[in-house]
Amino acid sequence: MTGDMSDLKPTAPIIQVRNLHKSFTLHTQGGIKLDVLSSTDLSVAPGDCVALMGPSGAGKSTVLRCLYGNYLPQSGAVLIRHKGRMTNLVGAEPRVVLALRRETLGYVSQFLRVIPRIASIDLVSEPLITLGVEPEAAREKAATLLTRLRIPTRHWDLAPATFSGGEQQRINIARTMVVDYPALLLDEPTASLDADNRQTVIELILEARDRGAAVVGIFHDEEVRDAVCTHRHHVAAPDGNRDAPDTVDSEDRQDLAI
Ligand SMILES: Nc1ncnc2c1ncn2[C@@H]1O[C@H](COP(=O)(O)OP(=O)(O)OP(=O)(O)O)[C@@H](O)[C@H]1O
Ligand SMILES: [Mg+2]
Repeated sequence: MTGDMSDLKPTAPIIQVRNLHKSFTLHTQGGIKLDVLSSTDLSVAPGDCVALMGPSGAGKSTVLRCLYGNYLPQSGAVLIRHKGRMTNLVGAEPRVVLALRRETLGYVSQFLRVIPRIASIDLVSEPLITLGVEPEAAREKAATLLTRLRIPTRHWDLAPATFSGGEQQRINIARTMVVDYPALLLDEPTASLDADNRQTVIELILEARDRGAAVVGIFHDEEVRDAVCTHRHHVAAPDGNRDAPDTVDSEDRQDLAI
């Protein structure tokens, strides 16, 4: 679905979530149904950063995964401004989802999904090269970010598989921040970082906001949250589902097909 073009002023939202419902059916556990999100609405304008709030298990990461098209909600809309049009990710064809991810939506997951045997510098430059940037210029931008994020140069030609948790997280952040995405989704981007690197990530998020990116993030660290966010959105589990288990063995991974 695409929206009409008339409401797309520069200050119009880049991300809009309308009436999102998400439940999981645990096929391996007697078909139990977990209602996680009900009637979630969000609107994120250029330069805004919305912090998703709520206790563990409230559904914060589920919101981000719905926004990235990893989880398919039962109903509702996730509208992202892509090439000047509001495009609904819910029910979009895979090629549309992939184009959105390539050009519009950056996502920092909490953990790096390691790509074996690819040098860190190549992993970080790759999203730019995919967008048509010259390899030399892409490497330069990647190098600038790796330097800012204090990855020692001797690590640049190594695959990050053996890196520490914090080093992997910084590679993950660099790989997303290397592209000036109009929309950014950040799932606890500073969780394993020391104070200096946390500060660098704060600066990167503020720079993204300054250039007009719309950001939705989960920031457990209050200091980080206070520094970067302009709005807070409380995610609450629907009534009757407050005792839902935190970890579940589920076959709902079907949602993660792309
Ligand atoms: N793929 C899945 N299959 C089944 N249940 C899931 C799945 N993903 C999330 N859930 C359930 O949805 C609920 C919300 O999970 P989510 O990961 O969104 O919480 P969260 O707010 O990010 O918590 P935390 O702060 O601990 O990261 C949990 O009860 C979780 O078990
Ligand atoms: Mg989470």
